[in-house]
Amino acid sequence: MKKIILTLLFSCQVMAELPKQAAIASAHPLATDAGHRILAQGGNAFDAAVAVSSTLAVVEQQSSGIGGGAFWLLHRAKDGKNVMIDGREEAPSKAHADMYLDKNGDVDRDKALYGPLAAGIPGEIAGLEHLAVNYGNLPLSISLQPAIEAAENGFKAYPRLIKHIKNKEKVLQRYPASMAIYMPNGKVPEVGDLIVQKDLATTLKAVAEQGKKGFYEGKIAELMVSASQQHGGIWTLDDLKSYEVKERQPITTNYRGYHLVTAAPPSSGGIAIATILNVLSAWDLTEMDQAKRIHLVTEAMRRAYRDRSIYLGDPDFVDIPTQLLTHPYYAEGIRAAIHPDKALPSSYLPGIGENPKGQDTTHFSIIDTDGNMVSATLTVNTGLASGFIAAGTGVLFNNEMDDFSAKPGEPNAFGLIGDEANKIEPKKRPLSSMSPTFVFSDDQVAVLGTPGGSRIITMVLLGLLDFFDGHPVDSWVSKPRYHHQYLPDRLYIEKDALSAETIKQLEAKGHEIQASSGTWGNMHAVYWNKQTGEVAAASDPRTTTGSAVVK
Ligand code: GLY
Repeated sequence: MKKIILTLLFSCQVMAELPKQAAIASAHPLATDAGHRILAQGGNAFDAAVAVSSTLAVVEQQSSGIGGGAFWLLHRAKDGKNVMIDGREEAPSKAHADMYLDKNGDVDRDKALYGPLAAGIPGEIAGLEHLAVNYGNLPLSISLQPAIEAAENGFKAYPRLIKHIKNKEKVLQRYPASMAIYMPNGKVPEVGDLIVQKDLATTLKAVAEQGKKGFYEGKIAELMVSASQQHGGIWTLDDLKSYEVKERQPITTNYRGYHLVTAAPPSSGGIAIATILNVLSAWDLTEMDQAKRIHLVTEAMRRAYRDRSIYLGDPDFVDIPTQLLTHPYYAEGIRAAIHPDKALPSSYLPGIGENPKGQDTTHFSIIDTDGNMVSATLTVNTGLASGFIAAGTGVLFNNEMDDFSAKPGEPNAFGLIGDEANKIEPKKRPLSSMSPTFVFSDDQVAVLGTPGGSRIITMVLLGLLDFFDGHPVDSWVSKPRYHHQYLPDRLYIEKDALSAETIKQLEAKGHEIQASSGTWGNMHAVYWNKQTGEVAAASDPRTTTGSAVVK
């Protein structure tokens, strides 16, 4: 028997063709170019991930940055290792559960979202060093070079960035170092204006020379801590020095012949996706009419987000019942309670307790010609984060502390609620929705993910279902989207996503539908056909700067 399995494995490997080209899809052409440049210099997918991440940290600061955090999901071809690098932000040691409550016990949204008190200790730089040292071929001094150039020489302002600067104008005006970058003459930049970041270039150079020490210790660390404390923040030098990246075992699950490798806690994404797919696996969605399919998918989303709000948090602080939540028997119980034609009001589900759509955070996907892969989602939380740049460093502080539950049952910026499992504690990492994912079958590989706050999980799910339906990569990223997150009890749909007839049928099943005035998400995905060796890449058509390049 063992021999037969080994022979089968061997014959599968012989059949598989390595990727004929490398594929990178990211949210900005400069970042995608940086990745390909590093591959051409002898780097692998992991070095390219360093270049893409750091360049996005310069040119797409509304979405991610070295003052923020990330999850990099890696597949190493030579030994098949899958691992998630957790560079998530961490609560400072002086953080406590009530830190954002006012004297009436209400959450002070300004404190939770703006200025240095909103910021967790960043993880991105530690993650980049970990990638380079443990998985890459090249030193940081080479793979950070494109980002250093982009910061030093500047890049052209574009509409999505400008929109975020306008939205955050009042907050940016509180901090001179933020104004100097985003509104140099006191004015919001226009399309094509050059955004130059000399201090950020200096900070990146310190990291290129000294590794993470250049950021977490010494002069840059001192400047960040004193700027934080001067403006009401609580970071300490020791918080920075003691920050460490963690390697997490990804969540895995199977769905109708596909094997998924996806984000582990402190992301909620992998567990939620596994629960939802387990629930759906008994139904042939491909054969179903649209309203029935959306109804069943929505009911599964509702239950998975309920579980998210109760059980999920930083796995180093809470016992997460991962086995239960990802087990097919658990899904069977959920499925049995789903009515084929009626929505269950969320208030009927035992649990706790406006959902703005996320346009922040960023995602990229990479496959190199050896078959190494990276699916990475990076964030500073909401658009342009806390709005606070520490003078002399160019580092925009995240506002990831808002991903904690500041008060049980109280919605955060994404309308998500949480309880004890995700309460604020010193050195804890806030629960995330970021869901970088790989899917493997005998002859195909998909790499995908997206930004979008609480909607990340359902966007990745819909991309996956589209792949399972047999559609190509440009379809996964462009498919119209819908979303349910338990509370508020509402089925959100993108503008023009569904026909009037489908909406009527869903309303008849009891769904309250809220059509969005726009779209959401910014998915970047790559695909590898292992039989032919062909690769493909696609960027979400919803934004104009997406850049998917195969070469
Ligand atoms: N800040 C968004 C997330 O991590 O889910």
